Amino acid sequence: MATTKTQVGIVGAGPAGLLLSHLLHLEGVGSVVLESRSRDYVEHRVRAGVLEHGVTELLADCGVGARMRAEGLVHHGIELRFDRTRHRMPLSDLAGGRAITVYGQQEVVKDLIAARLEAGGAVHFGAECTGIDGSSPSSASIAYRTDGRDEVLECDMIAGCDGFHGVTRSAAPPGAIAALEHTHPFAWLGILASVAPSTDELIYCRHERGFAMHSMRSHEVSRLYLQVGPEEDIEQWPDDRIWEELATRFVTDDGWSLASGPVTEKGITAMKSFVVEPMQWGRVFLAGDSAHIVPPTGAKGMNLAVADVRALAAALVSWYRTGDESLLASYSATCLRRVWRAQEFSTYMTTMLHPLPGDDFGAGLALSRLRYAVSSRAAAESLAENYVDLSSL
Ligand code: FAD
Ligand code: DHB
Repeated sequence: MATTKTQVGIVGAGPAGLLLSHLLHLEGVGSVVLESRSRDYVEHRVRAGVLEHGVTELLADCGVGARMRAEGLVHHGIELRFDRTRHRMPLSDLAGGRAITVYGQQEVVKDLIAARLEAGGAVHFGAECTGIDGSSPSSASIAYRTDGRDEVLECDMIAGCDGFHGVTRSAAPPGAIAALEHTHPFAWLGILASVAPSTDELIYCRHERGFAMHSMRSHEVSRLYLQVGPEEDIEQWPDDRIWEELATRFVTDDGWSLASGPVTEKGITAMKSFVVEPMQWGRVFLAGDSAHIVPPTGAKGMNLAVADVRALAAALVSWYRTGDESLLASYSATCLRRVWRAQEFSTYMTTMLHPLPGDDFGAGLALSRLRYAVSSRAAAESLAENYVDLSSL
C-alpha cells in the first residue's frame, strides 16, 4: 500500500477544503486535498450563490477574487414580497454600506482549483477517503482509494471538509462529538434557466401556496426556487408546472411579471438544520457542511464554510510557526458562536417565509414579522446586518 506524507490532510474539494489548502499554501504550510468526485463534477455542481461582504474581501485579499470582482453581481438590496406587494430592503443603507455579491459556488470552486493547480498544489480527484485516524496524540492518517488502489496519506492534522455526507465526522470516537439536528417539513425545488432575470435584486416571496425565490447567476441566467413537500419527486414537476407555480406565487398587484425560459438544471434539496459540537477531536478538525447545515433561506451555507476555514488556517499556521496550540484549542468555540448565529438567522428567515399547511397561528406570526421587518428601521437593520455579513463575527 503506497504511503505519502503532508502537513495537513484535507478531505473534500468543496469551497471549504480548497480554500483551506490555498490559505495554508500562502503561509508556507503544505497540504493534500483528497476528493472522491472528478474535477468536472465539482466544477459544475450548482449550489449556493450569495457571498457575504467579508467573504468577497477574503477571496480578493488572498488572490482568488479577480473573476468574482469582474463577473459577480454586486447587490445593495433584496426584496421581501408578501400579500401581493413588493418591499425593498436597502441592505447597504442599513448595514454600513456593505453589499452582497451574487456569484455561483461552482465559480468559486473553479477559481480555487485553478489557483491550487497553478501553484503546483496537490488536489487528487477520484480519491475516496475510506478511513480517518486522528485520535493518536502524535500523528494522523487518512486511508483512501484511487484508481482501484488503496493508499494512505500520513499527516500532522486532518481537516474534514467532506460535506454533510462525508466520512470524517463518522470517524469520531464514541462520545467525542454530539449532533444536534432539526428537520423542516418541506424541501426546495431549484431550477437554473436560460432567461434574463425578471428582477435586479433577489426576491424572497411568501405566498399561501408556499415560498418562492428569484435569484440569478448572470444577466442571462436565472436561478429560482419553490417550497415543495419533503417527499416530492422531481418527476412530478415538468417545466411548465414549475413556471406556472412560480408565476402564481410571485403575483403582485402592480403588474410585475415573470419571464420564463428553457430550464437547464433542476433538483430538490431537503431542508435541514444540523450542528456538531465540538467541531474537533484529537487531530481532526471539521469545517463547513461536515460540521453544520443551515436551511438555505438565509444564504449562509457556503459563507459559513469559508469563515470556518479562515479560522482553521490561522490556527494551523500559528501552531506550525510557534507551537502555540491556543487557536487550535479555541477553533471550535470560535466557529460555533458564528454557526449558532447563522442557525438562528436562517431559522428566522425560513419560518417567516415558508407557510405550513394548517398552521394559521404560525402564519399570523410570520406575517407580523414580515410587516415589522419592512416597517421598522430597527428590525430592518437587524435583518440586513445578519444577511450581509456574519463572517466577521
Ligand atoms: P461541500 O461543498 O459539500 O464539499 C464537500 C466535498 O467533499 C465534496 O466535493 C464531496 O464530493 C467531497 N467528499 C465527500 N465525501 C468524500 C470522501 N469520502 N472522500 C473524499 N471526498 C469526499 N447553500 C446556500 O447558501 N444556498 C443554496 O442554494 C444552497 N443549495 C444547496 C444545494 C445542495 C444540493 C446542497 C447539498 C447544498 C446547498 N447549499 C446551499 C449549501 C452550500 O452549498 C454548502 O454549505 C457548501 O457547499 C459547503 O461547502 P463545503 O466545502 O463544506 O462542502
Ligand atoms: C441563492 C440561494 C439561497 O439560498 C439564497 O438565500 C439566496 C440565493 C442562490 O442560489 O442564488
